[in-house]
Amino acid sequence: MKKIVIIMVISTMSFACSQKSKSIDEKVNELLSRMTLDEKIGQLVQYNGFWDATGPVPQESNSKRKYNDVRQGLVGSVLNVYGVEQVRKLQEIAVTQSRLGIPLIFGMDVIHGYKTAFPVPIAEAASWNMQTIEQAARISATEASAAGINWTFAPMLDVSRDPRWGRVMEGAGEDPYLTAQVGIAKIKGFQGTDLSHSQTIAACAKHFAGYGFPIAGRDYNTVDVSKVTLFNDILPPFKAAVENNVATVMNAFNVLNGVPCTGNSWLVRDVLKNTWNFKGFVVSDWGSIMEMATHGYAQDRYHAAQLAIEAGCDMDMESYAYRNDLKTLIEKGVVKESLIDDAVRRILRIKFEMGLFDNPYKYCDKEHEKVILQNTDYSKEALQSALEAIVLLKNEQSLLPLSKNQKNIAVIGALANDKDTPLGNWRAQAVKNSAVSVLEGISVYTNDYVYAQGALVHTNAAGFIHTVNINTTDKSGFAQAIAVAKKADVIIMVLGENCFQSGEARSRSDIGLPGVQQELLEAVYAVNRNIVLVLMNGRPLTIPWAGEHIPAIVEAWQLGQQSGNAIAQVLFGDYNPQGKLPMSFPRSVGQIPVYYNHLNTGRPEGFNKVFWSHYMDIENTPLYSFGHGLSYTTFAYSNIVLKETKKGEYTITAHITNTGNRTGTETPQLYIRDVVASVVRPVKELKGFTKVTLSPGESKQIEFKLQRADLGFYTETGKLNVEPGDFEIMIGSSSSTILLNTKLTLTE
Ligand code: GLC
Repeated sequence: MKKIVIIMVISTMSFACSQKSKSIDEKVNELLSRMTLDEKIGQLVQYNGFWDATGPVPQESNSKRKYNDVRQGLVGSVLNVYGVEQVRKLQEIAVTQSRLGIPLIFGMDVIHGYKTAFPVPIAEAASWNMQTIEQAARISATEASAAGINWTFAPMLDVSRDPRWGRVMEGAGEDPYLTAQVGIAKIKGFQGTDLSHSQTIAACAKHFAGYGFPIAGRDYNTVDVSKVTLFNDILPPFKAAVENNVATVMNAFNVLNGVPCTGNSWLVRDVLKNTWNFKGFVVSDWGSIMEMATHGYAQDRYHAAQLAIEAGCDMDMESYAYRNDLKTLIEKGVVKESLIDDAVRRILRIKFEMGLFDNPYKYCDKEHEKVILQNTDYSKEALQSALEAIVLLKNEQSLLPLSKNQKNIAVIGALANDKDTPLGNWRAQAVKNSAVSVLEGISVYTNDYVYAQGALVHTNAAGFIHTVNINTTDKSGFAQAIAVAKKADVIIMVLGENCFQSGEARSRSDIGLPGVQQELLEAVYAVNRNIVLVLMNGRPLTIPWAGEHIPAIVEAWQLGQQSGNAIAQVLFGDYNPQGKLPMSFPRSVGQIPVYYNHLNTGRPEGFNKVFWSHYMDIENTPLYSFGHGLSYTTFAYSNIVLKETKKGEYTITAHITNTGNRTGTETPQLYIRDVVASVVRPVKELKGFTKVTLSPGESKQIEFKLQRADLGFYTETGKLNVEPGDFEIMIGSSSSTILLNTKLTLTE
């Protein structure tokens, strides 16, 4: 007996050593060689968990069958299963009861926090602070991994110029460069430098691609863009994500130029996997494989499964197409098994990189879960993220900041008392109603305020979430609001959207203040003009009347758990706002799409008194432009100097001076314009930004670096062209406030 035990120990150790010495690819291939066709297809199947559905649940979805499939090794991943207890239970079935014991990966939409809610992504982007964004992602990964999650469906990298589209809330706005920087920061935050670390999680660049350009701003709608727009405005953030080792990519729901992304072999195989050499795996978005039949691209589910696997979609989220049809497709010779093998390799590689084969329960530590989720407080970091996301849009007569001794304040608006909306739409496991409200934030400074809802709200149960419905038409609270406004020295009005009026499937045709809030604003203004408008919203809103009449306007988005404290610290001056808009605010929905990096046209402003590109009833410019954001102090820009440090490498320096009487942080932005090119280029393109904090009177030199390639653009074949000629180099405090110019000439 002893001899047998010794032999077993030696063989296990030698197997373990042999495993250790093998590369991941060797381990993957060795495992693949032992898998049956059913087991291979199983790795390509992702099921939704057993309770929260984040999409339309297919008829055939049932828990019993899912458990059975896991037991038989016919499932590679699940989503929306979280909590160590649930994760371990499912992982144990997969690892101990299936033939090969291949561990599952557990995915979830950890978009801006898991338990600690950070600002929604568009608000995070408004901070233009990549360290802060990375830190929030790091904390999200720490919390999510403690709860058994090892894969997040984030960052969303969909550039969008259309605020009617509800998912602008989830992205980083209208610019490809800023979106790429935000994406890189989030991938670093989620994945760290070692995916095998138990507190890192795999990231997912989504939605590939073009999802942010739906016709008419309607979610899931058709996308039809030129290859020039695709390569220059839509794909760069995804390319940057791949270059920064994003582990996974998610298909977009939409048709892209006639072909659904999930079945778009040119997009996924040619561009992503071949040209960009993406080594991770691609997951469909919910039922996007099956939806190809609805699009009219696939005959049926069977055909959709063929098109999807041929196009490089490696994993099927919740459409059951791969589970039901791939085996027949292989057996009939319609699909080559080599395509399945490639998909399986990609998925197994990530599982090996995560260390799941070494320890399938590394994310299932009950004590660790308790320490992180119950005994660790990230409020400080959540507050810092929220503070940096706030954008001061307008501040006439320096109405803000309010004095800390300010008396006789009226606070009006349902959102001032809303502890749930600030958590945003994708709130993961943030506790409902756990945000600090504006009223609570103000109460830290003073109790000398009176509150009135104004536009009365009705709490209604919408499915599984109660939402404060501010789409109400109920004006019965107006009289009380007007009464308190009349007596007040200053009025803080908190208006905007409920958190479920932006996000997935929340497109709006009119992006003004919902319900009767605009009427409320005007009614209050009629009796007292001393108004600070605080916006709480998940998208740019059309607020032209407020922009013209209201002296101070603060963009406060949906700032997460510490919302009320951040807003109050800005209003009372303990924090000098530094945010800059990541997306233009249109004057009217009729202007959409309005964005800063537009082309000049042949008839720009000034071309002619009548015959030029304009509207007869409104200006061309947005109400607030990309990159706009004020401070409680002022800054001067001077002394721009361009130097070619070596062939094809440039530095651009300038001086920024704080000319006001408070310390403040400015975000100078670097823009270029390729004046003449073989493909017309935008009047401005963001190519750099930095943050500089200055005390009153202090000056600092800032420096940007440009490579020759930064001056290039992609042709419709995806080739990067850098053409000789003149380039305008601009530095500004926003895309519409250019303060320094110089010129760069490329001679070859
Ligand atoms: C949703 C979203 C996608 C999300 C997925 C899983 O439909 O489009 O962004 O990651 O389903 O919840």
